Amino acid sequence: MAKFLFVTDLDNTLVGDDQALAQLNNSLQKHRQEYGTRIIYATGRSPDLYQELKEAKNLLDPDALVLSVGTEIYIDGSPHPNSTWSEKISSGWNRHKVVATTTQFPELKPQPESEQRPLKVSFFLEQSLSTILPQLESELQKSKLNVKLIYSSGKDLDIVPQSSDKGQAVHFLQQKWKFVAEHTVVCGDSGNDIALFANGVERGIIVGNARPELLQWHNEHPNVYRYLAQNSCAGGILEGLEHFGFLK
Ligand code: GLC
Ligand code: MG
Repeated sequence: MAKFLFVTDLDNTLVGDDQALAQLNNSLQKHRQEYGTRIIYATGRSPDLYQELKEAKNLLDPDALVLSVGTEIYIDGSPHPNSTWSEKISSGWNRHKVVATTTQFPELKPQPESEQRPLKVSFFLEQSLSTILPQLESELQKSKLNVKLIYSSGKDLDIVPQSSDKGQAVHFLQQKWKFVAEHTVVCGDSGNDIALFANGVERGIIVGNARPELLQWHNEHPNVYRYLAQNSCAGGILEGLEHFGFLK
């Protein structure tokens, strides 16, 4: 057994089956102690909503946290986002202009204040109204706003800097900690996790309860290093970690 970099989304990936989560936590905790495996949570949640979930589900302390869909990285329990990362992705970002452009679209319902972050603007958008996305994107482009739209779970729309998403944030940590793709495993269930799998060389686990948008992307971008689990949530992660030989 060797150390690996374990990267996981939280809602409906790590969290969702309490019994399997307890078993997975136990294995990961031991692996971290014995081999120096590191744990990264990569979630769309803000610091406030992350803290709520961490307490409710008694999550292990991660070695790093990727919050707000990759726009904030917190290392080793630091209360402050890593400034190298924030500076790297903020170039050209103009939050005020992004918000102003979105006001032309009444279909967009702002998410709660806690989820509006310095480098992330978030809305609720019904699946049936998601046909406005190309138009929104072209309006943002017209204003020369170098942004990325990330739509997840048929309801959440995040607008973030182009150079930022969960995958790019994880890549930053991989380089910092010197983990190669072969020793990195990423796990997810929905649209905002696609960026975790997009490099195609990291080992990927899609949990059995994945959302249609991720499954569709998976089918359109087949890759031998990606495993589609039968089991849901942490049960699917355990299954995938065994499949790749990270855990016995
Ligand atoms: C989490 C965040 C929300 C975001 C969603 C998808 O639910 O709280 O702001 O839109 O993840 O990334
Ligand atoms: Mg999720």
